[in-house]
Amino acid sequence: MLSNVMKDALNRQVLMEAQSSQAYLAMASWAEIQPGLKGVTKFFFQHSDEERMHMLKLIHYINERGGYAIIPALAQPALTYVSLKKAFEELLKHELAVSDSINELVDLSLKEKDYATHNFLQWYVMEQMEEERLARECNDKLEMIGDDKSGLYLFDRDIMTMEQD
Ligand code: FEO
Repeated sequence: MLSNVMKDALNRQVLMEAQSSQAYLAMASWAEIQPGLKGVTKFFFQHSDEERMHMLKLIHYINERGGYAIIPALAQPALTYVSLKKAFEELLKHELAVSDSINELVDLSLKEKDYATHNFLQWYVMEQMEEERLARECNDKLEMIGDDKSGLYLFDRDIMTMEQD
């Protein structure tokens, strides 16, 4: 059974994953109306779905362990981005904040001697390593590309395969 403190902390993570999903959905909608960003659009939509899956996994876990997962209200995400580079900078910043939050949860699970939750969270630890790697890779590539249109064309073409590296 989850302690109250663990349950509340996991519920805060539900909010964070939901907010991530919403933020990437907003990026996807923005990318969809930009010229030549078909690959990036698909990437953001898919990423938004993944964040929803992260949220659902938490919801089921909280409810299965005798807690109650709260479905939260969400803040309005950014509506537009000045550039693709800015959008990906935001994505990296967001993922780093999520990683910090997961690490704090791991810390709390040990303090609470909740080894089941500690075990459950290991999946998120690994997932965050992968998400940070991907976000960094995208930022590095966009930094190199700068305003080069052919570079951007290749980035858009290749982004879906970067995810599987
Ligand atoms: Fe589920 Fe990318 O944080």
